[in-house]
Amino acid sequence: MTTSLLELRGVNAFYGSAHILQGVDLSVQSGERVAVVGRNGVGKTTIVNTLLGIAAMRGGSVHMRGESLLKLAGHTAATHGIAVVPQGRMILPNLSIEENLKLGASLRRPGEWTLDRIYGLFPMLAERRRSPGTALSGGQQQMLAIGRALMANPDLLILDEPSEGLAPVIVDELEKLLRDLTETGVAILLIEQHLRLVLDLAERFYVLSKGHVSETGLMKDVDRETLQARIMQ
Ligand SMILES: Nc1ncnc2c1ncn2[C@@H]1O[C@H](COP(=O)(O)OP(=O)(O)OP(=O)(O)O)[C@@H](O)[C@H]1O
Ligand SMILES: [Mg+2]
Repeated sequence: MTTSLLELRGVNAFYGSAHILQGVDLSVQSGERVAVVGRNGVGKTTIVNTLLGIAAMRGGSVHMRGESLLKLAGHTAATHGIAVVPQGRMILPNLSIEENLKLGASLRRPGEWTLDRIYGLFPMLAERRRSPGTALSGGQQQMLAIGRALMANPDLLILDEPSEGLAPVIVDELEKLLRDLTETGVAILLIEQHLRLVLDLAERFYVLSKGHVSETGLMKDVDRETLQARIMQ
């Protein structure tokens, strides 16, 4: 069996005494596009927060390329090649666009992503590099958050509700961009409540309900109605 890029086994995670993730099993292979779907509050963001050491893992394991990540923290994820585009984008309002991008490089791994390459991908960021990050529209802020994550040269890009608040035409652009990225070998873990991007982009899915995976499968085996029904169960 080949080693997964990311593998969570039986992960239990807590905020204080609140037991949120209850035995989550999930894997992502190199270059794969995987979605996690689920209703409000089922623990989707807590998966990300566990990898970043914000929620406490007590029980279970996380491996990156077969290597056990015991003490999880933001820098653990980054140094092992995981970059996150957080829910709500988290653009720092007092920093310029360029400063926001440079933040993503603070725990940079060797690789091909540079400021110039991000500006090549998103020319509107280059034009406005000295403006505050929050001067951008929602879609542009999402591109900035993606650019910031790519500055770390990740092998795995995790996006938490990236299509939230975006117009359909921007979601289409995002889909193409993410698809092109995986063609360069980057894997994607897409966390979404809205199924449009999931259906267009992901190859495999996990349905999360109340802190555990209630269903997993290949996207080609389900249609929108089936997936929606599984989420609502
Ligand atoms: N920092 C925190 N401290 C305590 N409880 C939290 C914290 N963050 C989230 N929770 C709780 O943990 C549960 C899971 O939250 P989480 O944010 O992972 O859900 P989600 O699936 O991402 O939801 P959404 O779709 O709204 O983004 C919820 O009951 C939430 O209230
Ligand atoms: Mg969330």
